[in-house]
Amino acid sequence: MIEIRALREHDNRASFRSGDPDLDRFFQQFAGQNQFRHHLGVTYVAVDDQDTLGFVTVAAAHVEIDELPAAVRRKLPHYPLPVLRLARLAIDQSAQGQGLGLQLLRFVLRLALQMAGDYGCAGVIVDAKPDAVAFYAKYGFLAVQPVEGGSDARPAPTPMFLSIRAIRAAMGAPLKKR
Ligand SMILES: CC(C)(COP(=O)(O)OP(=O)(O)OC[C@H]1O[C@@H](n2cnc3c(N)ncnc32)[C@H](O)[C@@H]1OP(=O)(O)O)[C@@H](O)C(=O)NCCC(=O)NCCS
Repeated sequence: MIEIRALREHDNRASFRSGDPDLDRFFQQFAGQNQFRHHLGVTYVAVDDQDTLGFVTVAAAHVEIDELPAAVRRKLPHYPLPVLRLARLAIDQSAQGQGLGLQLLRFVLRLALQMAGDYGCAGVIVDAKPDAVAFYAKYGFLAVQPVEGGSDARPAPTPMFLSIRAIRAAMGAPLKKR
């Protein structure tokens, strides 16, 4: 049985292999200190009885309106907008192609709905690696024209956005009422 929960300090991360060395290095060396020491983001892991099968890292962030796809800019104000950043997502090679990536993505969309109800969230933003653009597009993420001075990562990632309205429609969940 697979459980999705926040990373714990003593979780074994050494044997995780997604096929992307940068993502594996992040998970093994930086996810813990970012979460437990610096509080910069939270990593959620999908675990079975003994192994970590996947992880997703999220952080609160903000974007300017011109960092959003033109189709969702309408009516939004011109000050920094709160969003949830999906910073990293990876599935161990042994578990890829079995629906776990989608399960972690849906988990993040639920976090965004929770954030929207608690303190505001315009949507989820992700810097998609070239190989993963089609994965996010499949679930309605729209590509954003990169603004100058963007990421130095090579190959350049594609910033993509899914609005909270689209998330509500997809998840069929009303915003939490107080
Ligand atoms: C990309 C990744 C997260 C997808 O996770 P996964 O568990 O393998 O994917 P799932 O089994 O949940 O797939 C869900 C759907 O997305 C599709 N899909 C999966 N990976 C895809 C990709 N790279 N491009 C397009 N579609 C993809 C699947 O075919 C499936 O569609 P279906 O339901 O119509 O069959 C995973 O393969 C991975 O970790 N890859 C290496 C690291 C990486 O690229 N991370 C993303 C960085 S931004």
